[in-house]
Amino acid sequence: MEQVKKGVTIISSGSAKVTQVLDNHDLSKIVDTSDDWIKTRTGIRKRHIADVHSLCDLASQAAQKAIVNASLTPADIDMIILATSTPDDLFGSASKIQGMIGATKAVAFDLTAACSGFVFALITASQFIRNGVYENIVVIGADCLSRWVDWSDRTTCVLFGDGAGAVVCQASEFGDRLLGFEMCSNGSLNSALNLAYQGEIKNIGHHKQITQGQFGKITMNGREVYRFAVNKVPEVIEKALFRADLTIEQIDWLILHQANQRIIEAVAERLNIPSWKVISNLSEYGNTSAASIPLALDEALTHGKIRNGDRIVTSGFGAGLTWGAAIFQWGNLP
Ligand code: UT7
Repeated sequence: MEQVKKGVTIISSGSAKVTQVLDNHDLSKIVDTSDDWIKTRTGIRKRHIADVHSLCDLASQAAQKAIVNASLTPADIDMIILATSTPDDLFGSASKIQGMIGATKAVAFDLTAACSGFVFALITASQFIRNGVYENIVVIGADCLSRWVDWSDRTTCVLFGDGAGAVVCQASEFGDRLLGFEMCSNGSLNSALNLAYQGEIKNIGHHKQITQGQFGKITMNGREVYRFAVNKVPEVIEKALFRADLTIEQIDWLILHQANQRIIEAVAERLNIPSWKVISNLSEYGNTSAASIPLALDEALTHGKIRNGDRIVTSGFGAGLTWGAAIFQWGNLP
């Protein structure tokens, strides 16, 4: 049977509340740092850290809100893509979330691309809609990096927070609102940012060996990742703009992965995007990895900044190294 091609619309968002707050003053009691250093070098004032809540709890909350805001029920959802690097279960957490929210007909899977995860998942979801297979897809970006932070390393522990955000993508007969995208990887820079498995060789008898261990803590060469982001993010956005046949002046909002305010401002400056078009909530949440873009998007929508039809440039970048950009128009059609 021939399948009908459809357009993609991104029609609603939702996010989870992580109530426990860790501010810069709290951190200065844990490691040798100061509120002034963190604010000046990163723009972060506080971050939200999950306590008793699991990744699945946060992701489910965000997904449920996005589904309600789309005026759908969980039973309408065909697919759930969970972008995360911190699942509750290495086999994946998306299926558990599917069960928790009662999205009984949805197929669910995890997608791991660190801080690029949400952008990669949004683009992946769009392919399933464009080829006519699915109608309603929930894309979740959720991470609890606090689990894997080395709380004695001041170069990383001041950066990260926990959170979850989600959007609903829906098929449309009336047009396609994913205007352009581009995705990239460079594994030769993999060692710049890792949360690596560390195993020891063990003998299991009969001259057979295995490697068993656990995951370590986050390690990062901050300066290298900073340089990479400031160089590669403007480039990938320009490529996505070219594919969308748009100029930067036609863009209403820039929502970058919230890693560092200096990165956000440097990218905006290189692209000639005025500061009033730049959405940032980094000071409140820190770097929430795959959650940062949907969290910032949901907050901007809640505050009434973004309206139906606005053109949004979004770009994620991070471990892998991976980076990508997606340009879309907000809201449903017609
Ligand atoms: O989501 C994944 C993507 N990740 C990123 O995008 C992160 C990109 N990198 C960054 O955002 C920045 O590189 C950091 C915020 C991580 C670091 O800022 P920086 O301006 O690049 O600082 P630096 O690493 O060059 O360190 C400058 C100084 C060093 O001291 P010395 O060697 O000059 O004496 C550090 O030891 O600041 C010191 N330092 C700190 N001091 C107080 C590093 N961390 C801290 C700290 N408090 N928390």
